[in-house]
Amino acid sequence: MENKLYLYPGLIRIWHILNALLIILLIISGLSMQYSDPMNPFMRFDLAVSLHNISGIILVFNYLLFILANTISKNGRHYRIQLNGLINRLMVQFRYYTFGIFKAEDAPFPVTKKMKFNPIQQVTYFMTMYIFMPLIFLTGLPMLFSGALIRQLLSENAYFVTDILHITVGFFLSLFLIIHVYFCTIGAKPYSNFKSIVTGYHEGKH
Ligand code: HEM
Repeated sequence: MENKLYLYPGLIRIWHILNALLIILLIISGLSMQYSDPMNPFMRFDLAVSLHNISGIILVFNYLLFILANTISKNGRHYRIQLNGLINRLMVQFRYYTFGIFKAEDAPFPVTKKMKFNPIQQVTYFMTMYIFMPLIFLTGLPMLFSGALIRQLLSENAYFVTDILHITVGFFLSLFLIIHVYFCTIGAKPYSNFKSIVTGYHEGKH
């Protein structure tokens, strides 16, 4: 018997697809600017800069859509972390990911309408969306709009520090993306979760 739960509201699905595409473009253009051989770049430098800037600006507006979606729908409650007993819940989920899952044990926190994220998902999604995303904007936007101002008001070093912070947060977001996509393959079938984030319906195992 198929067991379907409507878990991803329309606005969240629109935000997510745009977010994924923009972040992929940002990673490709960012890596090209940082690591390409200038004589033989992966992407022409000026094109990479424009693509990075435009995608970054659209990402900020798209992020506002995420905040709006989580404010006007009930989706936001999935991001409210209950601190009481959190470490214990994280350990239980960690044990499942490292042992239980390979012994075909049942998930300790099955997906329900009330709790669609397991504790590890909840903490990583919270950190990504409410800490790392704001940090990437807070370091990227000043470099885009007031690089000269940062240099004048603070110092050349301040620009350098902002840049390093931006690259570091970008690194963690890229890492998140790889781990996120890998963990999304853990579902009823390896492609089930990918289908869910497009259709909105989660497919259970039964
Ligand atoms: C190729 C790129 C991506 C793919 C294929 C992908 C896939 C998925 C899938 C299948 C889900 C639903 C399963 C679940 O809730 O865990 C999901 C949810 C989610 N993804 Fe992604 N993702 C991608 C990129 C990203 C990026 C770049 C971010 C953030 C920077 C992100 C953040 C999230 C969040 C926060 C949710 C939960 C949304 C909610 O229900 O409130 N994803 N993703």
